[in-house]
Amino acid sequence: MAEAFSPHILPLGKAERYAALRVEIGSVLDGEANRVARMATVASMLATAFDTYLWTGFYIVDPASPGELVVGPYQGTLGCLRIRFGQGVCGAAAAEARTVVVSDVNAFPGHIACDSRSRSEIVVPVLDARGELIAVLDADSAEPAAFDAVDQEGLEAIVLQVFAS
Ligand code: SME
Repeated sequence: MAEAFSPHILPLGKAERYAALRVEIGSVLDGEANRVARMATVASMLATAFDTYLWTGFYIVDPASPGELVVGPYQGTLGCLRIRFGQGVCGAAAAEARTVVVSDVNAFPGHIACDSRSRSEIVVPVLDARGELIAVLDADSAEPAAFDAVDQEGLEAIVLQVFAS
């Protein structure tokens, strides 16, 4: 495969880019059930489509350690390995099973600064087809307030399609 996705995606507005990307991710992953392969593909395609993302990837609910997330497939600089439920933005999203959008990470109590350039962040819970939390998807940006309701809708739709169907 020469391209991560069709080049026509890049000039699109944010909402259209998420929609087009969702279709392309669905096509690339058609027939591939392995969860690591699915997470790695989503992380790669999101990071390539959104060059404003500083870090893009998954923290997985660790079956061997209840109440703890362990780092999964990602693109970006070194991420911390483990995050407890309730800790930082990822842990808050996991504990509450809801999307957390943080426009200023320095104002978020307990934010975990894996990359000191990070200024804003969005974390989306990832549920399987039974509605069980299996991971969170985390995207960070060096720009303040980089993520809004369009990102939330776009990312939630992608994780729903890829992991809950
Ligand atoms: N900032 C996250 C930690 C993960 S990294 O950003 C990759 C948090 O506060 O949960």
